[in-house]
Amino acid sequence: MSKTAVYPGSFDPITNGHIDLVYRALKIFDKVTIAVLVNTKKEPLFSLKERMEIIQDVFKGEDRIKVDYFEGLLIDYLKKHNYNIVIRGLRAVSDFELEFQMALTNRKLYPDFETFFMVPAINYTFLNSSVIKEIYRFGGRAPDLVPPAVEKYLKNKFDR
Ligand code: PNS
Repeated sequence: MSKTAVYPGSFDPITNGHIDLVYRALKIFDKVTIAVLVNTKKEPLFSLKERMEIIQDVFKGEDRIKVDYFEGLLIDYLKKHNYNIVIRGLRAVSDFELEFQMALTNRKLYPDFETFFMVPAINYTFLNSSVIKEIYRFGGRAPDLVPPAVEKYLKNKFDR
């Protein structure tokens, strides 16, 4: 039976750190479903449609990677689709507290729930989507931190 891991997140936008994690997960799992959260806590820069389009573009032709979305509780999405494994990245100790809380809360609500923590490549440990947005908002460029599709969308968003 093939094993699928779900990678949930805001992906506003996806970065090379996320992408690195997906490819690492594919060495362990047969398939990865990237599940984009519809309503992030903060107003996202990119709409759900844009966030999904970018990810689809990044993983074009990769038949082991699926892009999906969810609204509300992650566990409800997982149960509905018969998933129980989630991957999350741990970049630094500072990520741990929130991730640990989420993992245990989700398991409390869904006893079969498993979190698979993964560490990205060291050159992405400082990276998150907010840093990327900040750079491009003020006219900076970081082409080695985001895929070309993300660069294109960021430039469209901020270049007047
Ligand atoms: O990319 P992010 O913003 O770090 O991802 C966080 C995410 C989407 C995984 C998390 O906020 C989430 O699962 N939100 C959905 C609501 C939910 O199920 N919360 C879990 C209870 S702690």
